[in-house]
Formats: sequence, C-alpha cells, structure tokens
Amino acid sequence: MTQNELKKAVALAAISYVIDGEIVGVGTGSTANFFIDELGKIKHRIKGAVASSEATAERLRSHGINVFDLNDIASMPVYIDGADEITHQGAMIKGGGAALTREKIVASVAEQFVCIADGSKLVETLGAFPLPVEVIPMAQAVVARKLAALGGQARLRLKDGQPLLTDNGNIILDLVGCRIVDPVALEEQINNIVGVVTVGLFAGQGADVCLLGTAEGVKTLMF
Ligand code: 5RP
Repeated sequence: MTQNELKKAVALAAISYVIDGEIVGVGTGSTANFFIDELGKIKHRIKGAVASSEATAERLRSHGINVFDLNDIASMPVYIDGADEITHQGAMIKGGGAALTREKIVASVAEQFVCIADGSKLVETLGAFPLPVEVIPMAQAVVARKLAALGGQARLRLKDGQPLLTDNGNIILDLVGCRIVDPVALEEQINNIVGVVTVGLFAGQGADVCLLGTAEGVKTLMF
C-alpha cells in the first residue's frame, strides 16, 4: 500500500471515534485532510467541527460542515489529527504543517486525542523529524540561540524564500538534530523560553489512541 492509502485507511477508521450529535476537533495536514473528506460523508450525523487551522476550516466548509469558534465550545469528546512522529507511549512531534499552536489549543479542550498516522510515523525516540517551535518574530535570534544551547540547530522555516508565517502571524524555528530522551521535560523547558509561543512536542498531553496504518491493516494503540 502507498503512504496515501495508509493515511486514507486510518482516516476512515477514525470515523468510528466521532460521536453523533457532537462537535469534533479536527487537525491539520494530509492525513487530517483525508479525515475531513470522510467526515463530509457523515456530516448530517454531527453538530459541526472546530478547526486547528485556516486551511482545515476552509476544507471543512467546502464539505458543508459547520465550523465553530473554539471560544463558543466548553468541551468536545474527541480531537482527531495526524503527527510527524509518535512514540509507543503516545508522545508526538507535530507542526510539520505549521499549525502546532492551534492544534495544541483545540486538543486541550477535547476529552480524547485520536492520532491518525501511517506506520512510518511510529518511532522509538522522537527527534529524527525537526522539532517545530512557533516563535514571536522579534524573538527569532534570542530563541534560536537558546534552542541551539539545548543541542541541535535552529533553522528558520521558509516558504517561497521568505519566512513562513503561521496562521497566528508568527515564525517557525525547526530544531534539527536534537535527540529527545525526555519529551515531557523538553516540552516544558522549550515552552518556558521567553518568545516561544508553542513547541510542537505533545508529550505532557499526548495521544490517547493512535490508529496506525500498516500493510497488515489499521492497528489501534492505546496509551
Ligand atoms: C500539522 C501537523 C500534522 O499533523 C503533521 O505534520 C502530519 O502531517 P501529515 O498528515 O501530512 O503527514 O502537525 O501542523
């Protein structure tokens, strides 16, 4: 099976976690896009969705799904999103699509985080994927120095030769070459650097379930 076929399979499997009559939190990225396309087919069963990015909101609306403002929602049963890496303990690196901050905010309101990922995302130790950090633009240099002091190199993410700006108007520094032995401690440490908005480590509050696409079918990992 191709990687896209594996992503489609987990996106379809995630539909069984959607609760009828409720609002579902929806992530960002190619796997989340496959999920949105499946959600569109059962849109009459749900009240609507909360989006973790402008791109996701647009895709949800294109399927005729109601998109709610998170400020109007006190809780939701489930948040469904992809990951760049996930460990056997449910800790993740996210933010390959630059939506890490909104993803973490929406996930924090959900009772359950269901990660949907193809098998290549399952790792023993996080850190082969560059760790995204959303940063206030004026703090770029100081945060880059502090990240480098943790090990690895902080690289400014570019798009079309220009600094990529997130939906929140901030930049992304990708920390390359940092082997992450204690994701919970590193998440706290990076989040405490002044000028950092969010680090793309989802470890203190990781996934509750991972639907993993493999050649043998969709495996369910519970954490
Ligand atoms: C976006 C994310 C995505 O979930 C992550 O990058 C995985 O993307 P894909 O499903 O395209 O492999 O965190 O900010």
